[in-house]
Amino acid sequence: MSRPVLLFDSGIGGLTVLREARVLMPERSFVYVADDAGFPYGGWEEEALKARLLSLFKDLLHRFDPEVAVVACNTAFTLAGADLRAAFPGTVFVGTVPAIKPAAERTRSGLISVLATPGTVKRAYTRDLIQSFASQCHVQLVGSPKLASMAEAYIRGETLTDDDVRAEFSGCFQEREGARTDIVVLACTHYPFLVNVFRRLAPWPVDWLDPAEAIARQARRLVPALDRLKADSRPDRVVFTSDAPDFATRRLVQGFGLSPLV
Ligand code: DGL
Repeated sequence: MSRPVLLFDSGIGGLTVLREARVLMPERSFVYVADDAGFPYGGWEEEALKARLLSLFKDLLHRFDPEVAVVACNTAFTLAGADLRAAFPGTVFVGTVPAIKPAAERTRSGLISVLATPGTVKRAYTRDLIQSFASQCHVQLVGSPKLASMAEAYIRGETLTDDDVRAEFSGCFQEREGARTDIVVLACTHYPFLVNVFRRLAPWPVDWLDPAEAIARQARRLVPALDRLKADSRPDRVVFTSDAPDFATRRLVQGFGLSPLV
């Protein structure tokens, strides 16, 4: 039996990556892990979150022995990516980091914004990305304490008010010396679920950069392709660390074709 591809996030955000990964790796089976017992990660103290991630992965890697482990969460990977690789050298990790490099390559105005959780915004990793790849740009970091939870609520069918959403992302829209922000990096995997709302409420059109496809492509490069006869036909599975997701979340993952693991 072939080994599955593991995708990990604090909640449902990694589903935006799963969507792309399935297109590129149709012959593979997936295990999706939502650490909903720890959600949201954005406000966690760094050492405590790192310890939690190391202990969760110890268990998950032992349990599923994945071909690759995709950390589909900026908040987790910018904090603990290097520690995970050092602690589990036998595992291939694919990480998620703010797409600052592609944004710097594409911007015309030189004004880029990075919309992320407060955790990702304060990481040394994020500052290093800016210094290495976007030193010629003006990069506005916008840490939203609420958007990840709002994305979860939205996807569960709850109504969000325009003012509440606007309050979380309006800092992304900057004007300086006649130039305007033209790219907003969606540096939290939850945010692509809200991109249509962002588009509708944005004061001017920008490019909303969603890294999901690039992450899936990187995973595909590292996962050997199986021919049709060896394709893994097991259903894709989902694990919630709380063991008790609410009804709407269960229905959502079922809609994504994920079966609960008991
Ligand atoms: N989806 C996660 C990310 O990419 C974080 C959401 C959260 O737990 O706050 O950063």
